[in-house]
Formats: sequence, structure tokens, C-alpha cells
Amino acid sequence: MIETTPYSKFSSVYDEVMDHVDFQEWANFIIGSWKENKLPDKILDLGCGSGTLLSHFPSSINTKVGIDSSLQMLETAKKKYPKIQYIQGDIIYFSLKEKFPLVVSTHDTLNYILQPEKLITHFQTVNKNMELGGYYFFDLSSEYNLIHNFHKKQLFYNIDSVKLTWRNTYNQKRKVITSTLIFSIFKDLKIQKYRETHYQKFHPHSIILKILQKTGFSLVSIGSDYKTWTLKKDCCLINYLAKKIKEIK
Ligand SMILES: C[S@@+](CC[C@H](N)C(=O)[O-])C[C@H]1O[C@@H](n2cnc3c(N)ncnc32)[C@H](O)[C@@H]1O
Repeated sequence: MIETTPYSKFSSVYDEVMDHVDFQEWANFIIGSWKENKLPDKILDLGCGSGTLLSHFPSSINTKVGIDSSLQMLETAKKKYPKIQYIQGDIIYFSLKEKFPLVVSTHDTLNYILQPEKLITHFQTVNKNMELGGYYFFDLSSEYNLIHNFHKKQLFYNIDSVKLTWRNTYNQKRKVITSTLIFSIFKDLKIQKYRETHYQKFHPHSIILKILQKTGFSLVSIGSDYKTWTLKKDCCLINYLAKKIKEIK
């Protein structure tokens, strides 16, 4: 078994595994929450993965930029949507030449940031790369989702020459979910096995509110699963819309 970094193998089947996600609905929900008269001219997607969400935003948005740490996810994205600009980087620390009126981060990407101090740094970084009055739309997995849909659950996929087994354990004390993804890849009459271990943390709403306040944002709306701007107890992805109200140093 070869240990490999998150998304280095997952990238080869990510789109098929996420086939149930209606990214057009997500893009419509985000754009529908846009509070200004004129649509933004630029959008930045943090943890853009294979670029699908960015591709669903209106083509009138001239500049679409995605940042992701996984080279393999970005390779997939570049093949599918070559007109989008991609940057390999860490969403906790980055500095771009231009500032964005709309920044998004979706599909529990921020749950990959484990330490609260790093989450603070992330929001400070986002602030510095945004226009004053701009919006940051992000989601976070709810604890309900981690407990009811993932804890002690195994998922199996057979996609082309790849067999994926995905096991999850949520530690309620540490608020961390460990996902072990085993890939059996059939090539040249041989099977090669790879393991990716993903760690994600549940961040309670009270912490997010404090961090937003500390990093120059005000919370505009909170919603559920890209469907409604009300918070439901059994929602899986909590949607946040925050406005940059202050420049920070
Ligand atoms: C669950 S996927 C979400 C991808 C995409 N946003 C979507 O909606 O399908 C999480 C992505 O975040 C990226 N990621 C996680 N932590 C990151 C970090 N610190 N910096 C940059 N990318 C990160 C991963 O490489 C992966 O592509």
C-alpha cells in the first residue's frame, strides 16, 4: 500500500463521486444572494478542486480564478475549463495582485483547516485579497452531517479501472473526522493500492462568528444546503455569506 497525499488519487474519480452535486444550483444560490445591483466582474474560488463550480457562474463574470493545493485536482480542472485561471497554493496564506469583489469556498473545504489560529489567518488573508464591501461566501460541514452521514460509514465506488473504499470515523471530543480512502487501481494486469487520509474539523458557529468579527467581516446571512437562507437543524452544509466591512493590517 502506498501512502499518498489527499486528492492525489481522489482527483482521478472526484467528478464521478460528486456526480450527485448540482453545481449549477449552487452557483445560482450564490449569485442569487449577491446584494449589489451589478454582478461582480471577478470571482475567486478557494479550494476550487476540479473547477466545476467556477464553470457554472455566469460568463459575464470576466475573471474567474481558482486556488487549490492539489496539483492533480488543478490538472483535471485545466483540462476541463482551460479559460479559468488556476493557482496552486495554500488558501491559508496567499497574496494576489488584484482584489476580488466576490470570494467563494465550497464543499467543506474550510473544514480541512484544523487549527482555529489557522482559520483566523485564512480569514485575514481573504480580507486582504478582497475589495472593501465585497462578499465572502463559504460553507462548512455541520456536525449533524459528520455524525449522521459519515461517522462509521463506508462508501464503495467502482469507476473505470479504480475501486475506491472510503471509511470515516468522527471523534466527537476532538471534533475531527478521519476519512481513509483506499484506491485499488488496475493497470497492466496488476493492482496497485494507494491510501489517502483526510482530516477535517467541525468548526462551531460561535467560533466562526468571533473569527468573522475579528477579521473585518460582518455576517450577512446563514443558510442550509444551497437551498434556503435559514439555518435548519438537519442541514449538511451550512452556508455563510459575509461582507468585508473593514480593512485589516
Ligand atoms: C472537498 S474538495 C472541494 C472542491 C470544490 N470546491 C468543490 O466544491 O467540489 C476540497 C478541496 O480543497 C482543497 N484544499 C484543502 N485544503 C486546502 C488548502 N489549505 N489550500 C488549498 N486547497 C486546499 C483540496 O485540494 C480539494 O481540492
